Amino acid sequence: MAQTSRQPVASLSSHVMAEINEALKRYPEDQKRSAVQSALHAVQHDNGGYLTVPLMDAVAEVLGMAPIEVYEVASFYSMLETEPVGRHSVSVCTNISCMLRGADDILAHVEQRLGIKRGESTADGKVYLKCEEECLAACAGAPMMMVNHVYHENLTPEKADEILDGLE
Ligand code: FES
Repeated sequence: MAQTSRQPVASLSSHVMAEINEALKRYPEDQKRSAVQSALHAVQHDNGGYLTVPLMDAVAEVLGMAPIEVYEVASFYSMLETEPVGRHSVSVCTNISCMLRGADDILAHVEQRLGIKRGESTADGKVYLKCEEECLAACAGAPMMMVNHVYHENLTPEKADEILDGLE
């Protein structure tokens, strides 16, 4: 997170608040913090794919947590982004099983198709090609990639193109 100075707490949309309230139903009243991951996912999705400090502060306020505790969660989990990135998140697994089944070629193909390298977003803000992921636990379907948290397995370059072309 690059921002260091204090910014005003953002207000959360009614849609995000509805999702947070739904998540809170799963936990005791005095354990609101248990909903932090669900809340951050909802906020990230609502904000076009990444979190800001004011939005994380708003989550902290709603859940009765210290802002630093929310920042810690946001910076720990690889599915949460704390810098502006493209709105569609694409992760090509290059761990051992996927590597043995051609993941490096798939990644090279995706990079060429998008015109970016891993860790970058396309200039139009549409796609973020995430940095290397650890095994995504779908080795039986290697090679695979995750797009917006949905798994796509047994990839070929053609199949990867179809998936990327389907992103709005
Ligand atoms: S190595 Fe790619 S899913 Fe396990």
